[in-house]
Amino acid sequence: MSSTLTSLPAWQALADHQRTTRFDLRELFAANPQRFERHTISQGELLLDYSKHYVTAETMRLLAALAEARDLRGWTRRLMSGERVNVTEDRPALHTALRANRPVMLDARDVTQDVVRVRAQMRRFSDALRSGALKGATGRAFTDVINIGIGGSDLGPALAVEALAPYAGPLRVHFMSNVDGAHVEAVIKGLDPETTLAIVASKTFSTQETLTNANTVRAWLANAVGERSGEHFAAVTANVKAAHGFGIDDSRIFEFWDWVGGRYSLWSAVGLPIAVAVGMDAFEAMCEGARGMDEHFASAPFERNMPVVMALLGVWYGDFFGRGAHAVLPYDMRLKRFPDYLQQLEMESNGKRVTREGEPVDYDTCPVVWGAPGTNGQHAFYQMLHQGTQIVPADFIVCCKPHHALPQHHAIMLANCFAQTEALMRGKTPEEARAEMTAQGLPSAEVERLLPHKVFPGNRPTSTLVLDALTPRALGALIALYEHKVFAQSVIWGVNAFDQWGVELGKKLADRILPELAGASPVTSHDSSTNGLIDYTGGKR
Ligand code: F6P
Repeated sequence: MSSTLTSLPAWQALADHQRTTRFDLRELFAANPQRFERHTISQGELLLDYSKHYVTAETMRLLAALAEARDLRGWTRRLMSGERVNVTEDRPALHTALRANRPVMLDARDVTQDVVRVRAQMRRFSDALRSGALKGATGRAFTDVINIGIGGSDLGPALAVEALAPYAGPLRVHFMSNVDGAHVEAVIKGLDPETTLAIVASKTFSTQETLTNANTVRAWLANAVGERSGEHFAAVTANVKAAHGFGIDDSRIFEFWDWVGGRYSLWSAVGLPIAVAVGMDAFEAMCEGARGMDEHFASAPFERNMPVVMALLGVWYGDFFGRGAHAVLPYDMRLKRFPDYLQQLEMESNGKRVTREGEPVDYDTCPVVWGAPGTNGQHAFYQMLHQGTQIVPADFIVCCKPHHALPQHHAIMLANCFAQTEALMRGKTPEEARAEMTAQGLPSAEVERLLPHKVFPGNRPTSTLVLDALTPRALGALIALYEHKVFAQSVIWGVNAFDQWGVELGKKLADRILPELAGASPVTSHDSSTNGLIDYTGGKR
């Protein structure tokens, strides 16, 4: 039996349209010289060009009708007004309240008052750190800050601190996420504990990796500054009691709330390392950029709505063309962490196989999201994008203006970015490849032998997102764009974008295996592979 989604007339209409329409990008461009103008959306500092996609005016109309049929407008209202959209955890997902400039009521209370209070605390703390007024236990000003956190307590701040490096102040900000001792050693190597402050960022304050790393860093700090090592810590958490229990003073605990999902939390106090690195004004500018995108998402008609269009294109390829992967290719080295950030945002949010109501889905949800910066990727995996057997829709991201003073470098970046999307779209026909080789003077037998290798199928869809420049505002808008894209897709697919039960099983098993690794006798409580691996690494085989 087909699900509510796939039996919708709007879904069926799209399936018919897909079956009966020829989507040839070269032909679509040839037929309409206005295609770029018709298929671009500007919003604030961002421009989305989605003209190199399998879409006609009819496709966009049908996709928008699907969004209507799934009540995307209603769900957006529910999201932003604090309804408990996270049904399995009975919570709202109010990250938009973190950047709102109007009251947002939750259980008869305006939560933005709490946001303003913590923002003021963040400003005081980051200003004091950046000015050198806040000193460590031995009276020296701090020079380095380590953010200890993982997942949503790491990826967003790490992305922003790197992306906004041209705005950075005097403090060096480091990120320690992996429980791998090599990561811990690499971060603290070369740092002076007397001038280092650690921020323990954990919504739950119970994450094994973060607490293990925090304890190791505490021992390292205590070894240098003795029992006053607490003065070298701050905490960001929704579990104030546990942070207090760890020994962090209340004045150094920055609270956020269970209505902020971990992977949507960089707008909360989880953004403290951003404020420390680039200043609170820049952090607030990021929030403003995000708010502009929130307002656009909540009000623009679906066909002119940047996150909605991106969401619908994802559904179009995933569910109607069977494309199981999506690439994110920033032509900006400062956005090199963006694919990692999006992997959590997209795959932890929408990597689900049952609906909000618990019904198994009979359609595909989240694709594999991956990517790396151009031009590096061009010399690594683009071969597959151009000539491989799988078609991978991709987002190319580039800035009009760079922050560096090497204009020729930027021109080469832009040229490569646009060349790749053109090449993916146009490809190279056998006739074109033959003519090219003949013009080079190759003998005709050689031309025919090489021909199959020189043909590019083309017709490979891409979006291009252009930012004016990688400013705090533009970065905020870019991140919010993808947050809303993910939410819009979750509404189409009918899944809960705000829980992550799929991470639990592995955590529980790791807790069970940890003591077994240390045991003296061979382990028998698992399958033979798991038993064997535990015994082998523990030297019991
Ligand atoms: O294991 C997944 C997860 O719960 C993410 O959703 C979250 O961002 C990350 O772990 C870290 O959690 P916390 O901030 O509670 O330490």
